[in-house]
Amino acid sequence: MPQPPTARLSRAQAYELSQDRGINPTGNESLTDVVRQRYGRRDILKGLAGSAAAGIALAAGLPLPREAEAATAAKPRFSFSEISHGVDERHHVAPGYDADVLIRWGDPVLPDAPAFDVQQQSAAAQAKQFGYNNDFIGYLPLPAGSSNPSHGLLFINHEYTNEELMFPGIGRQDTKDKAFRDMTRERVDIEMAAHGASIIEVIRRPGEKWAVVAGSGMARRIDALSTACEITGPAAGHPRLQTKADPTGRRVTGMINNCAGGLTPWGTVLTAEENFHGYFWGKREDSHPEAGNFKRYDVPGNWYNWGQHHERFDIAREPREANRFGWIVEIDPYDPTFVPRKRTALGRFKHEGAAVVVNKDGRVVVYSGDDERFEYVYRFVSKGRFNARNRKANFGLLDEGTLSVARYNADGSLEWMPLVHGRGPLTAANGFASQADILIEARRAADLLGATKMDRPEDVEVNPKTGKVFVMLTNNTRRKADQLDTANPRANNEWGQIVEMIPPNGDHTADRARWSLLLKAGNPADPKVGGQFHPATTASGWFACPDNCAIDNQGRLWVTTDQGEAWAKASGTADGVWAVETEGANRGLSKMFFRVPVGAEMCGPFFTPDDRTLFVAVQHPAADGGEKFTKSGKDSTFEDPATRWPDFQPGMPPRPSVLAITKKDGGQIGS
Ligand code: FEO
Ligand code: CA
Ligand code: CA
Ligand code: CA
Repeated sequence: MPQPPTARLSRAQAYELSQDRGINPTGNESLTDVVRQRYGRRDILKGLAGSAAAGIALAAGLPLPREAEAATAAKPRFSFSEISHGVDERHHVAPGYDADVLIRWGDPVLPDAPAFDVQQQSAAAQAKQFGYNNDFIGYLPLPAGSSNPSHGLLFINHEYTNEELMFPGIGRQDTKDKAFRDMTRERVDIEMAAHGASIIEVIRRPGEKWAVVAGSGMARRIDALSTACEITGPAAGHPRLQTKADPTGRRVTGMINNCAGGLTPWGTVLTAEENFHGYFWGKREDSHPEAGNFKRYDVPGNWYNWGQHHERFDIAREPREANRFGWIVEIDPYDPTFVPRKRTALGRFKHEGAAVVVNKDGRVVVYSGDDERFEYVYRFVSKGRFNARNRKANFGLLDEGTLSVARYNADGSLEWMPLVHGRGPLTAANGFASQADILIEARRAADLLGATKMDRPEDVEVNPKTGKVFVMLTNNTRRKADQLDTANPRANNEWGQIVEMIPPNGDHTADRARWSLLLKAGNPADPKVGGQFHPATTASGWFACPDNCAIDNQGRLWVTTDQGEAWAKASGTADGVWAVETEGANRGLSKMFFRVPVGAEMCGPFFTPDDRTLFVAVQHPAADGGEKFTKSGKDSTFEDPATRWPDFQPGMPPRPSVLAITKKDGGQIGS
C-alpha cells in the first residue's frame, strides 16, 4: 500500500495552494497586453480614473457616475426588506418569509432507508440516506412535462464530505500527523456513499409546508461507490478511458465532486464533476503514462485516501481511472433505472456547472465554467436540434457537437474558439491524435488556442428573457498586477466579479458575442477593495465571492456566495443570497435576502415555475473558518462544532440541508 505523501497539508490548505498558484502553465496573451497598448499601464493601475480608463469602463459596462445619479429615481424590481450582514449559528431570511428545512444529511431517501444514527453510521445506511454537502438543486415538476409548482422531484448534488464533522472522535484526517490513519475502509465507503446525488419526490399541499414524499418509488440515490454509469460521446471507448475493471472504456462506477448543474428542456439533469483530482492517490512520476495530462489537472490531489482502499483511485495501480472523471453527467430523474451518462463531447475539466439553452434554430447550447484560478469558460453547441414533441429523441443531443472556449477581448467583444481536431494547433504534432484526445485534455487544447485566463469561473446561467449569459467569477488571489485584463481587472482579487455575455441577436451559437462586467464584488466603500455595485447598494447589499446564481421566472438574477475559509477577510458576513438588478438605471443594485449559519456556503438556488418557492442548499455548516468565529475561535469538529445547525441537539453535529423558502402571504419570492 502506498504511503501518503510526507509533507501533507490540510485539504483546505492544499486546495488553496493548488488554486492559489493556478496550474495553467501557458503564457496565453493576457488582455493586459492589449489594454496596455491602448491605454498604457499607469491608466490600468489607476483603475477607473482618467479618460483612457473611462474607455475601459465603457467596454466593461460598469455604471458611470452620471448614469448612477440618474438611477436613484428608477423603480427597483425587488421589493423585500433587506437583512443585514452578520454571522451566527443560525440562518436568516428577509422579514415576511419562511425558510424551512426540507431534508438533511442522513434523512431517508429510499423507502427502506434505516433511521439516521450518527454514532453508528454505515455505508449500507448512507447509500439509502440523503448524502453530504448538498450543492446543485433542480426542481422537476410532476407529471413530467408539466409546470406544476407544488409537486415535483428535486435532484440534489452531494459534492464532497467533511470527515471531521461526520465521524465521532477522528478530527481532520488530511493532516501530516493523522495521514488518514483513522479512515478505515468502512469510513471511506461511507464517504463514497455520501457523494453523488439524491432524487426525492416533494409536495406542497394547500396550507401546508413543503414535505418529502416518504416511500416514493421515484426516489433514488446515485453515489460514488456503486452506481453504474455509462461513458458516451466521442471519447467513449478510447484506450485512455480503458481500465482493468472496464476494458471497454464505456462503463464507470459513480460520479464525484458534483458541484452545480442545470436542467435540459427535455427534463433531464446535467450534473458537473468538479474537483475530481482530489480523490486520486499517490505520487505522480514523470514516467506515468498520463503525466502531462495529470499535471495540467493536478492529479493526484490526495485530498481523500480512497486510493488506499479502492485500487482504481491509486494512479500507480490504475493509471487511467482519472480520465473517467471531470465530465458532465446527464441523468433522467423521471426514470429511477436510468444509467447516468458521462457526456464526453462537453470536454473534461473541473466543471462547475452546466447552463442549457435552446438556440432559436433548435440547436442546444451548454455553457460551463472550469473552476480553478486562471482557467476558462467553455460552450458546447449540439449538432442536432431539440425535438419538443419527442422527449427521448433528445437523449443523444449532447453526444455530438462543437466545444469552444472563450477569449474576452478588451474592446468588449468575445470570440468562441472551437476545440476541433485538425484545426489550427489541435493536431497530432501537438499530441492530439483524435477528437477524444482533445476532449480528455480540454484544458491543454484550450491553452493552445489562447483562451482568456479567468478568475475561477463558477456558475454560468442564461437569462431566457434577455438572452444574456451571466458568469460568476469567484476570486483569484494569485492574479498579479501585470496579469490584469478587462474581464479580470484586479490584482490579488479576493472578491470576484460577474461577467455578462451578450450573444448577437440572441444567437447563442454565433462565433462572436459582446461582454461586459455587471459588477465587481467586495466592499464598494473600501478603495483598497475596489468593489463596484450600484451606488444605492447598502452596507449589507454588497457581497464577496459569487459562486452560484439563479434566474427566476421573471428574468431576475439571484446570486449566492462561497467565501470559504476567507469569509472574515473577504466580507465579514456569512455567505448568503443576494438579489441583483441587471437592467436599466438600477443595474448593479444588490440586496441581501438570506444568510447561512457560520462556516457554511450557499448553494443550489432554484425557483419553482411560479416563483413562489426558492429552494436553497446550505453546504458544510460549521466547516469553514470556525476559528474566525468569536463564539467558537477554533476549527470545528464533530464534538465541538461552531454550530449544531439545524437540529441544535446535543451530540448531533451540523447537517448540510436543503431549505424551502416561501413567502408568508403565499406570494412570489422577492416581489
Ligand atoms: Fe464546487 Fe466551484 O464550487
Ligand atoms: Ca460552486
Ligand atoms: Ca466556490
Ligand atoms: Ca462550492
